[in-house]
Amino acid sequence: MTVYYASRTGNVESMIGKLGIAATKIESGDEVADEEFILITYTDGYGDIPAEVEAFLANNSSNLKGVIVSGDPSYGDAFCGAGKAIVEKYGSEDLYHFENDGTDEDVKAILDLVK
Ligand SMILES: Cc1cc2nc3c(=O)[nH]c(=O)nc-3n(C[C@H](O)[C@H](O)[C@H](O)COP(=O)(O)O)c2cc1C
Repeated sequence: MTVYYASRTGNVESMIGKLGIAATKIESGDEVADEEFILITYTDGYGDIPAEVEAFLANNSSNLKGVIVSGDPSYGDAFCGAGKAIVEKYGSEDLYHFENDGTDEDVKAILDLVK
């Protein structure tokens, strides 16, 4: 499965490295996904979708098959809230949540989801 990801401070980027998969980084949001993909993103604001991810999904959500989200549990109810926000706005499935750059267990679980 094609994977797109967003990372501002490096945690999701680090997870992508641990997964050892090819993935395309969303930078401007102008990227074009012409086949089905899974999105791995961080959470911004208070349970919010990062701006570049919003821009990307505005044009590409028809190919979105699922979302995997990084967050920080100190945000309480908004932990990994980007997943819920994306599913409410664009449909698809909130597949998995992990903390910061994830654990070995998270790596295994995510590999199962994206293969
Ligand atoms: C301004 C700001 C707002 C954040 N808001 C949330 C949030 O609402 N929920 C959450 O789970 N994590 C939140 N986080 C934590 C990040 O989503 C988390 O650290 C993530 O691993 C960052 O990924 P990145 O390093 O790839 O950018 C926030 C971080 C920052 C800096």
